Amino acid sequence: MGQIKAVRGTRDLLPPETELWNHIEATARRVFARYAFGEIRTPIFEDTQLFARGVGEETDIVSKEMYTWEDRARAQSEKAQMLTLRPENTAGVVRAYIEHKLGDAGLLQKLYYIGPQFRRERPQKGRYRQFYQIGAEVIGPPSAGSESPLRDAEILEMLATLLEALSITGWTLELNSVGSATDRPRYIQALREALVDLAPTLCVDCQRRAVTNPLRVLDCKVPEDQAKIDELPKIADFLDEDSRAHFAQVCAALDACGVAYTVSPRLVRGLDYYTRTTFEFTHGGLGAQNALLGGGRYDGLSEAIGGPKAPGIGFAMGTDRLVLTLQAQQVALGESSAALLADAYIAPLGEAQQAESLVLARELRRAGLRVELGDGTFRLKKSFEMGNKLARRIVLFGEQEAVSGMVTVKDFQTGEQTKVPRGELAKMLGAQ
Ligand code: HAM
Repeated sequence: MGQIKAVRGTRDLLPPETELWNHIEATARRVFARYAFGEIRTPIFEDTQLFARGVGEETDIVSKEMYTWEDRARAQSEKAQMLTLRPENTAGVVRAYIEHKLGDAGLLQKLYYIGPQFRRERPQKGRYRQFYQIGAEVIGPPSAGSESPLRDAEILEMLATLLEALSITGWTLELNSVGSATDRPRYIQALREALVDLAPTLCVDCQRRAVTNPLRVLDCKVPEDQAKIDELPKIADFLDEDSRAHFAQVCAALDACGVAYTVSPRLVRGLDYYTRTTFEFTHGGLGAQNALLGGGRYDGLSEAIGGPKAPGIGFAMGTDRLVLTLQAQQVALGESSAALLADAYIAPLGEAQQAESLVLARELRRAGLRVELGDGTFRLKKSFEMGNKLARRIVLFGEQEAVSGMVTVKDFQTGEQTKVPRGELAKMLGAQ
């Protein structure tokens, strides 16, 4: 029978790498708590319409990357429904905000999420079909200050703090404003006009985008097209007074707290809900998929999916890419990412000691130690071999030890062997 493998673009995350995942997630939770964010967990699948209307029909995500299926009716009272595995979490968070009337209290909602997302992209380094995001959203009624440029700057400052807490260095913050709902149509019109002559000289994707979604032309990565695209009209020249002032205030607050950024006029991002501030943190070490995280403001998203006016701003970081970056940094520093060794390996020396050795392991684990437990059918030689692979020390627990209440401990690094009373073992092994 043929072997069954993980589906293309999906992968198993295994120890010791999962230690790094947990470290990243725990660090994010700690930093988010300091900025008074609470966790939200939305379903992994949603009504397809949520993404069609929220993210935009013409985006690559919705037009070609979603995992969508028809959920058949199982009873006459049910209707068949189109469902989609979430390709991102912002639309789901805003749906939940609307559904639970979270804006009614007149306060800002500050919500973070950690979880898998699904996009049917071409897999490559740093790009998977099931990938993971750590993200956060600030959303609320305008009366709660949800449109304030201070919210944008605070999010960006939090991200700089989080990357510092993760010891990720060498990133660049790229910042732009894509204007308000009234600026954008004027800009898109100008793009369309400029593209009439230019599009036929660009790649086939751009020729299509020029018609369906001209903004997406600015995302083009084909090297030969770059110089020509740089000549297209710039969104900055189409911002109205308010959008311009908003962006200037975001920049001023970032300057005040020393968060460095570069303004990237072409950063329009691949989702249609953005208005005004857009940003990405990129990292040179990641290769082609160089965006560590991306985000921006979405002042009209709530209304686009049937909710009240509720401007918001947020981001999502690719956990897979954070892991790749940290692993590359560890290698550069010569740090080992080898499996964490246990404090002790307990070797019951006979089957008669098995049950009691579990009691001993329980005592040590309750004292906070990381303990591996062997098997009473192993010979002494095998116990030593196993212990040496798994732990820093071996604790021998034979008939004699069980009777005398003294156990033998050998340190693999120093080769030192000692006998200690069982009651003192935890302390000797470093329990606090
Ligand atoms: P996004 O730019 O599509 O934005 O994704 C955010 C981040 O998720 C990317 O910068 C990247 O690190 C990671 N990512 C995206 N696709 C993949 C993939 N196929 N494999 C691995 N990592 C990937 C959003 O998703 C928005 N919801 C962000 C946002 C939140 N905007 C406002 N609030």
